[in-house]
Amino acid sequence: MISGSSMEVMKDEWLDRDTEVQISRLKRIDWDFFNYKSRDPGYILHWYPARIIGAIPSTLIGLLSKDDDVVLDPFCGTGTNLVEAARAGRPSLGYDISHIAVLISEIRLQILRAPKSLLSIDNPVDKFLFEPLFSKDKPQPNEVREKIDKAMSYGDYLDRWFSLDQLSETAFLFLLCERCNDTIQRKFFSVVLSHCLRQVVGYANMGWSHLSDNVFPKKISRFSVAESFKSKLEKIRLEIQAYEKLKTTPMTVETHVFNEDSCRLIEETARGTVDIVITSPPYPGTCDYALTQRLSLPWFSIDPDSELSIEIGSRHYRHRGDFLETYKRKIGQCFMGVARRLKKYGKLAVVFPRFNDERDRVIDQLISVIEERGFKQFYTGIRNIHRTKRGLHWNIGTAVQQQIIAVFLKIE
Ligand SMILES: C[S@@+](CC[C@H](N)C(=O)[O-])C[C@H]1O[C@@H](n2cnc3c(N)ncnc32)[C@H](O)[C@@H]1O
Repeated sequence: MISGSSMEVMKDEWLDRDTEVQISRLKRIDWDFFNYKSRDPGYILHWYPARIIGAIPSTLIGLLSKDDDVVLDPFCGTGTNLVEAARAGRPSLGYDISHIAVLISEIRLQILRAPKSLLSIDNPVDKFLFEPLFSKDKPQPNEVREKIDKAMSYGDYLDRWFSLDQLSETAFLFLLCERCNDTIQRKFFSVVLSHCLRQVVGYANMGWSHLSDNVFPKKISRFSVAESFKSKLEKIRLEIQAYEKLKTTPMTVETHVFNEDSCRLIEETARGTVDIVITSPPYPGTCDYALTQRLSLPWFSIDPDSELSIEIGSRHYRHRGDFLETYKRKIGQCFMGVARRLKKYGKLAVVFPRFNDERDRVIDQLISVIEERGFKQFYTGIRNIHRTKRGLHWNIGTAVQQQIIAVFLKIE
């Protein structure tokens, strides 16, 4: 529980010596990480909402796991926990239903593992953007039209957000991405391009919630998708280059990211057991992960509603009478799968956003749902998010002011 009652449960007989040592170390951590700066070159790849800072998983992994322990994140989002596991030399498994989140995770991990694979083209901007314009193989106007039609068949609202010129530019660039022979480079370019499409919201002076709710801009902005893509590619290239120069040892650990529903974890025992789980699950009613990507998903031939229908706790359904009950049932199902995959006495660390006292009741309920699946909470940490840093977090109405770090032991 958030109120600090973890101190009482600490005395219970189920606490072993190792866990007691871990508790005393956890208690010494200043979770605010006020001066933290990410050292992960892939952090700037994409604006995907509700990412956590790497300092939290890197601290948890360091304190709660050993070399070669396998880390699982059932809601991996952009892969922050997987990245920190890889940096600490731990193999990992991640799951997320968001196609874009999984792409981001894969590329962030690839940058760590083999930055050269993304720098092998001397100047990606020239090679990717300008040379094709003069090549015989460049996408032809009929292909561009077909690509727009196809994207519109998955998202018929696109022309309310973009002008015809912007749609043509976007279609042209996605067609170029698809022509990359190298799979990783293809994914890399398309994820960067997908990041750039959100610019339309900023230019129209609208917030992200307008995007999720599909509230159209009054006037279509005049930003250039290609210019935005070019400058983002350049920024990322510099980050990767700097990282490549500093990197001393190659990162060889195995990581697997699955674009799957975590409710199905329970069926997937074939993928083996894991030693530790670190995750930040979707929090009920705060975000629509699928719908925030509505400007990108149609270009990948995905209807955002198909992801929305699997997403747990989406804000889109917050007014339904059974919203919280459905959320608890589904999240409980996921943690049942987590319990099945985690070794006995393995640790589970869950990071929740904290908005205000009113919503703390939801965190308490969530902790109960997890404990009912065979876990015992033994530690609560609190991260105060400095007001200048709250912008990094997805917020509707009120900003996330704190994060709760709850650590559990699997006891059954
Ligand atoms: C708080 S975010 C995780 C952010 C992540 N820690 C990071 O740093 O990027 C929660 C994630 O849960 C995912 N999610 C929601 N429902 C899911 C489901 N049924 N199965 C798998 N992932 C799901 C969302 O797509 C979202 O990416």
